[in-house]
Amino acid sequence: MARPTTRHTCQACGASHPKWAGRCEACGAWNPLVEESVDTAPRGPGRGRARALEIVGLGTDTAPAARTETGFGEFDRVCGGGLVAGSALLVGGDPGIGKSTLLLQVLAQLTSTTPCLYITGEEAVEQIRMRADRLGISDAPVGLASATGVRDIIGALDRPDAPAVVVIDSIQTMYVDTLDSAPGTVAQVRTACQELIRAAKRRGTVILIVGHVTKEGMIAGPRVLEHMVDTVLYFEGERSHQFRILRAVKNRFGPTDEIGVFEMGDRGLTEVPNPSALFLADRRDDVSGAAVFAGIEGTRPVLVEIQALVAPTQFGTPRRAVVGWDTGRLAMLLAVLEARCGVSIGGHDVYLNVAGGLKVTEPAADLAVAAAVMSSLSGEAVPHDAVVFGEVGLSGEVRAVGQTDLRLKEAAKLGFARAVIPAGRARRGGAGGREHGLAVMEIGTLGEVMPLFPDLPRADGRPGA
Ligand code: TYD
Ligand code: MG
Repeated sequence: MARPTTRHTCQACGASHPKWAGRCEACGAWNPLVEESVDTAPRGPGRGRARALEIVGLGTDTAPAARTETGFGEFDRVCGGGLVAGSALLVGGDPGIGKSTLLLQVLAQLTSTTPCLYITGEEAVEQIRMRADRLGISDAPVGLASATGVRDIIGALDRPDAPAVVVIDSIQTMYVDTLDSAPGTVAQVRTACQELIRAAKRRGTVILIVGHVTKEGMIAGPRVLEHMVDTVLYFEGERSHQFRILRAVKNRFGPTDEIGVFEMGDRGLTEVPNPSALFLADRRDDVSGAAVFAGIEGTRPVLVEIQALVAPTQFGTPRRAVVGWDTGRLAMLLAVLEARCGVSIGGHDVYLNVAGGLKVTEPAADLAVAAAVMSSLSGEAVPHDAVVFGEVGLSGEVRAVGQTDLRLKEAAKLGFARAVIPAGRARRGGAGGREHGLAVMEIGTLGEVMPLFPDLPRADGRPGA
């Protein structure tokens, strides 16, 4: 039987189907299938003689990969201490968040020690020059080229005067001329990325690839891109805020979950070495519905304010709106408050916001969220000089979290005097009572937080504890 010459590729997940259908069976997306041609060369291991594999052990004498520091401390930290020769990095983020600005600034810093090339497929060379002028970096000797043909770009990488660091902005505009499909389709994005990475690895070039994000928040042109590269960075933030956060979600050469914080101003991005002070800058005294969470982002403690607003539902189903935290987690926490602590929340809308545009993913934020919700519901402020952290379990128990010392030290450094933390420190050798200059209140169950909020409405009609 003749092999089919076309297949239908899902533009959302990259799955390939022999027939067109309205819905991708692999990921459930509607109407994502696009017809693409396949090469009909016979598949399989082939007929040639197999070469013997060389099998080696795990030990190595080679020194750890040398890293090139970019001079942008926050960027280097997220990459695990600098750029590793021959590595491929994918930088994803919403349009207009500042990916091009960030990478242009990084290259401008780096270029004094390392030859750099910025390839733009989206903007004209003149536009980039205007931006460089605004950023005050037009004197930096960064090579600039406008190109979309992958073959041409690989040609430039193979030249004797080839750069050591290359930015491709963006992978969705790149075009491989051996494929029929349009730029931006899965087949194009995947092949272009593969070819560029192969060329870069061969020469030891560092390649920084910009990838757009779909409205669901994934790097467009499927997850396959994330498998191909060594490091995946997301550049995120609210466009209406000036803060931007660079987050490593995958890193073959360093820790993940590391974040770098930047501030977008009229002269581009500047680093924020002390994010806690910045996230807490706009705090107001003694307002109900706010709690300061002492979190850990990567290796660094970060203090953020968590704000909750609980208001009676006017009609219909109560609303739950969350910015910067997980909606499912909030639902769980509200259920625990209601079922285990008897707090009546069912008839209320709940709005939750992590101030400053940070996205918190740690379960350790549970207790701070619960405190903010209880505070808003009761009208009683969480003590202004207190930080809160701890994971809440389904039975209402408060569980210990990691890196307690780091969190407490950061809180003390920023002038906090009290901490509400999970119980068990004293037993495990912590001082209890006072630690790192903070008065520590240890909490075993969520119910033990309730005395802080005496006016909490109870489901059984009784006033709070
Ligand atoms: P850009 O880097 O073009 O975003 P991306 O490449 O992720 O699409 O960033 C553009 C935004 O940044 C735009 O909304 C304007 C803003 N911006 C500043 O606020 N200050 C600046 O100095 C620059 C260059 C951009
Ligand atoms: Mg851009």
